[in-house]
Amino acid sequence: MEVNSPPYTLVFFGATGDLFQSKLLPALFLLHKTSLLHPDTLVFGCGRTNMDDAAFHDFIETTLPRGIAKQDKDIFLSRFSYCRVDPAYKESFIALREKLDAVDYSIPRSRLYYLAVPPTANESLIANLSESGLMEEEDHSQNGFRHILLEKPFGTDLDSAGDMDTFLLKHADEHQYFRIDHYLGKDTVQNIMIMRFANLIFEPIWDSQYIDHIQISVSEKGGIGGRAGYYDKAGAVRDMFQNHLLEILALIAMEKPATFDAESIRRVKLQLFNAIRPFSEEEIGINPVRGQYAGYKNEAGVAPDSRAETFAALRLWIDNPRWKGVPFYLRSGKCLSETVSTVTISFKSLSNSFFENEPPNKLTLRIQPNEGMCLNLRAKHPGPKFCIGDLPLAFCYSDLGDTSSAPNGYARLLLDAMLHDHTLFVHRETIAASWRFFTPILKIWENDPDAYHLHQYEQGSQGPAASDELMAHDGRAWEQIKLDIPIGR
Ligand code: BG6
Repeated sequence: MEVNSPPYTLVFFGATGDLFQSKLLPALFLLHKTSLLHPDTLVFGCGRTNMDDAAFHDFIETTLPRGIAKQDKDIFLSRFSYCRVDPAYKESFIALREKLDAVDYSIPRSRLYYLAVPPTANESLIANLSESGLMEEEDHSQNGFRHILLEKPFGTDLDSAGDMDTFLLKHADEHQYFRIDHYLGKDTVQNIMIMRFANLIFEPIWDSQYIDHIQISVSEKGGIGGRAGYYDKAGAVRDMFQNHLLEILALIAMEKPATFDAESIRRVKLQLFNAIRPFSEEEIGINPVRGQYAGYKNEAGVAPDSRAETFAALRLWIDNPRWKGVPFYLRSGKCLSETVSTVTISFKSLSNSFFENEPPNKLTLRIQPNEGMCLNLRAKHPGPKFCIGDLPLAFCYSDLGDTSSAPNGYARLLLDAMLHDHTLFVHRETIAASWRFFTPILKIWENDPDAYHLHQYEQGSQGPAASDELMAHDGRAWEQIKLDIPIGR
């Protein structure tokens, strides 16, 4: 059951930027259209651009879907105001506070500040919010919450993540921060938990007795776009593995939480991350595999001698009884053949059975696109002969009909933050545990760049050959990166 949000004043910093326009506005519109946004909720767009409310409304209108009735559009737009704010100037925040206090005077509203700004602006923004009294919470029962939503990067290694926490906690309490990993807003990522724990047929076989190995693959067809300034310093491990891939891994491999609240889930995720076996220094030359797509160094803004990896593949082990001896293979990269994210659970072969030479069962969770899942079973071929074939049992979310009113990832996250629910947000302790695993690898790569090979791969390929060799060494192979698995039409 969806729960409607209480009245809020939503304040978006970076309101003329790409994230606001491409993801946050559509999410707000979806929440508005489905009546999940309280009728008294107001939205302030803030940015350095000088603009009045009318110009801001014109800007918003360009992003709205076509064909909306004028009256509906006007109701939606009437929620929005604009306030010029320079994150670096405290005076801006005093003016903002006056505006917010004026609108919240008659109807008390909680406030949510969304930091859709470049990460370099975050610190001054948070410091100014706090020093202008905008983070001070009043009576929560009177809608007195003051929340900050912020996106990665949460540090660039273990130490800097720790420094960031110290900074954040100096300016507001932990419960006021909502750290976003937008993958957790995706229906298909949330479905991992439901699929595992709400179906009797999966949970009893979700361990090393029945599972041979698990693959998590997030591939993108696109390159780095105009983001060289950030990406060339980050690379694929910081950009994708430390956050999105490890969050997916957590949902796939964690123990069953005592309850489905934020605290219980955080506890089992943390246990899981702490059980990941660290890489040995000798191993790091072979596993993880790092790659860079051909032509990357010619991208605008990329250093001519860049060693940033645009692809990585690795095998990891989880040292706990459930996963003893089960390898997890993780892979992600840019400029690959398709944009596809999947998790594949490969079950063991039947032993001591008449059917022991049959290919084992496989469960594919399709995170995106063609969202859904597919269970490959062995079944009898129709006909007079006793022949066995592959039977894919596929389910596609689009089969459910119109899913356009289901909250998109950002809508879900905005709604949960308004409901003060941290379940789908990442916690500083799990972020630190993830950095604890990845930081030694990143340091070794950085301290001795020539010792660790950066494999080149063709654009549009499946990644470097070394990634296939990593699998072949274990007698396994990656699932092909392709769109046409049995899910979807
Ligand atoms: C972001 C990364 O967090 O996720 C990007 O910084 C990446 O590099 C993006 O392209 C992928 O997100 P999605 O939702 O398009 O799979």
